[in-house]
Amino acid sequence: MAAFRVTTPIYYVNAKPHLGHAYTTIVADAVARWHRLLGDDVHLLTGTDEHGLKIQQAADAKGVSPKEFVDSIAPLFAEAWERLDIAHDDFIRTTEARHVAGVKALLQACHDAGDIELDTYRGQYCVACEAYLLPDDIVDGKCPVHRTEPQQVEETNYFFRLSRFGDRLLEWYAAHPDAIKPAHRMNEVLGFIRGGLDDFSVSRTSLDWGIPLPWDPDHVAYVWFDALANYVTAHGYGTDDAGFRGKWPVDYHFIGKDIIRFHCVYWPAMLMSAGLEPPRGWAVGGWLLVGGEKMSKTTGNVVNPLDLVDEVSVDGFRYYVLADTAYGNDGDFTHEGLLARYNSDLANNLGNLLSRVATVVGSKCGGIGPAPLPGSPLADAAARAVEDAAAAWEAVQPSRALEATWSLIRAANANLEVNEPWKMEPGPELDAVMGGALEVLRIVAILASPAMPRTCAEILRRIGIDRPVHEARIGRDTAWGGYPGGLAVTKGDPLFPRKKA
Ligand code: ME8
Ligand code: MG
Repeated sequence: MAAFRVTTPIYYVNAKPHLGHAYTTIVADAVARWHRLLGDDVHLLTGTDEHGLKIQQAADAKGVSPKEFVDSIAPLFAEAWERLDIAHDDFIRTTEARHVAGVKALLQACHDAGDIELDTYRGQYCVACEAYLLPDDIVDGKCPVHRTEPQQVEETNYFFRLSRFGDRLLEWYAAHPDAIKPAHRMNEVLGFIRGGLDDFSVSRTSLDWGIPLPWDPDHVAYVWFDALANYVTAHGYGTDDAGFRGKWPVDYHFIGKDIIRFHCVYWPAMLMSAGLEPPRGWAVGGWLLVGGEKMSKTTGNVVNPLDLVDEVSVDGFRYYVLADTAYGNDGDFTHEGLLARYNSDLANNLGNLLSRVATVVGSKCGGIGPAPLPGSPLADAAARAVEDAAAAWEAVQPSRALEATWSLIRAANANLEVNEPWKMEPGPELDAVMGGALEVLRIVAILASPAMPRTCAEILRRIGIDRPVHEARIGRDTAWGGYPGGLAVTKGDPLFPRKKA
């Protein structure tokens, strides 16, 4: 069995989860679900980033200790992922003992390699980024992402000698030219590296809320060193090294473009220093913009994903975020856009197909679904949809995979409109039309299940198939002719009741 291990960023717990966090997590979950349909041994890791100045400041503002504060927010992420049907295999919090032990081991390994040394640094620090900004990054005196003024900071700290890793990183990327998806992000990373790499500080003395350095406990680890390490500590680095070796490297880190430098430059260098392989790949998403700005807590334009779930259902929301934005590009979140897509793709296309089929089978086939015929005009469309969807999921392009899937739904609706089975007499011709439509519903339910697991389980149930959709396998179960016929088809409430736009 092929392994497929992926990760989401671990999110800052300075505030509750917002739409941007939900977006990246849903993309990772959907791709992981696709790989489960391929029969892969899948592992999806997510979690929370709980140390550092930003969290300390948020706790101070509430007048509680950082530990109390993170303990109040971290569960909100776990609950949100539960409500969004995220099927993660592990949830790591950076305040857990397994993580603390692993971070110390990683720091020690880089220190032993001679890549962590004391030095003094002066620069402009953005607390929201938890990073120094380079002079070129600063726009009108402000952080271009958060639109806040950085602070002038000078500190004597331990530094990771990133400057030594430029050539090694360039060689590694030359040998792994497909590691970053979408491909254009690779150029950005190579640009950073070729532009010259500065050492970065990996410790703080101005702050207690962090993991003490094993060789100098007056310093706590820089929050980004701490956070990046979650990807190895969750798999047992520093606590179960034998187990860890069988699980690393992972296949993809799903991240947003805001944190590409940390993930694609700092992180592989840290791993190389510690004698570990870089990850196999990174899947870099764009931003969801609200009113043209990156949605973020610091900008103040946050949308609560759970409000949208209340409105359009979990699957309506999951479908929207996956289908509406090509992964890698920025997307514009608007409420009108959400409802328009819900009404057209879900209420009309998919919902109509199911309800028409159930109605006609109920009235003209005695409620028993006929089997599809091999020569159905829809068989080719189905084969193409399976092939195109598979290629798109493989390329980490859920929107294209869903577009391929919806082209099959549209073909089936068009076929019904041409044949008008609601006007046909019961008999073999009608059975052929309805068998084809049922077979499309069966295949669509499998193909769309990574995006909409509940709805797809319900579609299968209504066409008489009892087997859980996650047990389906691409290939074996997506070939034309799998619907056995003779099953009871039930008509239920609309899957996606139309919404007033
Ligand atoms: O950066 N659109 O955490 P974070 C799309 N703790 N995605 C968005 C988004 C938006 N408007 N806003 C956030 C951190 N995201 C660190 C990560 S990992 C070792 C440490 C998503 O809470 C996107 O994936 O700021 C982005 O990279 C991530 O949330 C940042 O979440
Ligand atoms: Mg952020």
